[in-house]
Amino acid sequence: MTNANPPVDTSGNPLTKNANLIRWVAEMAALTKPDRIVWCDGSEAEKRRLTEESVANKVLVPLNQEKLPGCYLHRSNPNDVARVEHLTFICTPTKAEAGPTNNWMAPDEAYKKLSGLFDGSMKGRTMYVIPYCMGPLGSPLSKIGIELTDSTYVVLNMGIMTRMGKPALDMLGGSNEFNRGLHSVLDCNPERRFICHFPQDNTIWSIGSGYGGNVLLGKKCLALRIGSYLGKTESWLAEHMLIMGVESPEGEVTYVAAAFPSACGKTNFAMMIPPKRFKGWKVWTVGDDIAWMRVNADDGRLYAINPEAGYFGVAPGTSYESNPNAMKAISRDTIFTNVAVTKDGDVWWEGKDGPVPDELIDWQGRPWKKGSTEKAAHPNSRFTAPATNNPWLSKYWDDPKGVPISAIIFGGRRATTVPLVMQAFNWMHGVYFGATMGSETTAAATGQVGVVRRDPFAMLPFCGYDMGAYFEHWLAMQGKVSNPPKLFMVNWFRKGSDGKFLWPGFGENMRVLKWVVDRARLRVGGHETVFGWVPKAGDLDLSMLDLSVERVDAATEVDLHEWEKELTMHREFFESLGSTVPKALKLNAELLTARLETARSGAI
Ligand code: OXD
Ligand code: MN
Repeated sequence: MTNANPPVDTSGNPLTKNANLIRWVAEMAALTKPDRIVWCDGSEAEKRRLTEESVANKVLVPLNQEKLPGCYLHRSNPNDVARVEHLTFICTPTKAEAGPTNNWMAPDEAYKKLSGLFDGSMKGRTMYVIPYCMGPLGSPLSKIGIELTDSTYVVLNMGIMTRMGKPALDMLGGSNEFNRGLHSVLDCNPERRFICHFPQDNTIWSIGSGYGGNVLLGKKCLALRIGSYLGKTESWLAEHMLIMGVESPEGEVTYVAAAFPSACGKTNFAMMIPPKRFKGWKVWTVGDDIAWMRVNADDGRLYAINPEAGYFGVAPGTSYESNPNAMKAISRDTIFTNVAVTKDGDVWWEGKDGPVPDELIDWQGRPWKKGSTEKAAHPNSRFTAPATNNPWLSKYWDDPKGVPISAIIFGGRRATTVPLVMQAFNWMHGVYFGATMGSETTAAATGQVGVVRRDPFAMLPFCGYDMGAYFEHWLAMQGKVSNPPKLFMVNWFRKGSDGKFLWPGFGENMRVLKWVVDRARLRVGGHETVFGWVPKAGDLDLSMLDLSVERVDAATEVDLHEWEKELTMHREFFESLGSTVPKALKLNAELLTARLETARSGAI
């Protein structure tokens, strides 16, 4: 093993003198026993070298460099293709701190168990030290992490998804405040796979997996699970939200953040192209998955940064029709994971534009023929692309100050009940929207269609502490934001009695977004229903949209019978979360029930 001290870049120059960091790396190396330690400087030369090495080791397969310059394919172990919620643990001193929605392991037990697995796990391998910054370099909203890994796939992905290398070390300086991430693929055995978070120690240990969400520790692990805990203790919000800037033809830009559960089209919404009717309107992407939001003392507004620097998006369903900006973003310098490839080294997945090729190599490297009952690309196949490839990237995406948020949207995939758009009466009611949001399961996922899985704030798999305490934190933020954003709920997925979607979605969502922006800027009225404000007849711009009045009415309707059932489910859900659910939210369920009863009697 080479000595971890002193860390040098590929040219032999010192990278850092941070004694705490150097000591920790040495300790982790003593445990994992790598043959070599390489400190990553984030340079182009380093990227080239690691790419060549990964190709030589068959970790990466070069794609057609004329069609897809700088693009490579990675095939993961078929047993390791998604996040593993059942193997993801929050290791707080007490189980209550992790809450009923997380798996819990006592920190001592987790360290002991995983130390046993990490012991010697990097023998014969190289340990890469990845310094990275989540958020714009130099921003007070950003955080530094160091990930130690034995995977070049992880290093190359972290190079896209984060500000990685020497600049992150320079920002850290001599400080001891950094997230300590340790990762080893080990033998990629699900029996020896654990993703453990230690919020109190700002530490993440991940072993036995090579898949993105489990091993790119800056993303779900730091930016959301540990981030949400840090947010609670430091009075800010780490959220599973996209951030977009909506620009009017007059050049006024309004920033909106939106939370949707996984697989509800967040990346598509963040990269939306307004339809023809909205000539002159532009949507700028700040982020597609995660928002860190903090109150700005100068104007009392909530400012958001995107802690990431790239997109780790789902490939199937991505096309020039559904998301042209994403297609452009993944046309170069992108790592594809578990997609299919054509004979000439192009990528393919279900839902991509054009005819289905007659023959492909599937995601496991096997020959595949058109008409096969098996999918050519894995349904969770991914692209890792730099944000700077996005043609509609906001010019403020890297601004250390962040962008001021005027509206926050909560959405889900609901076939019934939830109208196209509704605004909360106030902050607490908006927190209630977030706390009760959910998505219907599909047949593919559970075998049971139409079962609502509650996914509060789209954070169910990502909240690093007790959910009730998290709701309390959101409620408490009201006292800190003197100029708060307005809060909304949307549903693009309501279905008619014919079983078809009532709303066309995609770019047409711009119509809803315009109402949201106008409401946030207090320049359009609304109709007060029992459960929130909805657009008044005529306020939702429906011109140049081929949609019958009946379908629009059905998409926007608030049905009291459906809501009666919905409120019962809300109350049951709060019960299931235990005693920490704030009283205000429970009482709001009662208030809404009382309002519903009054409405039923015809009084409102
Ligand atoms: C993701 C997810 O990968 O939410 O972003 O699952
Ligand atoms: Mn996500």
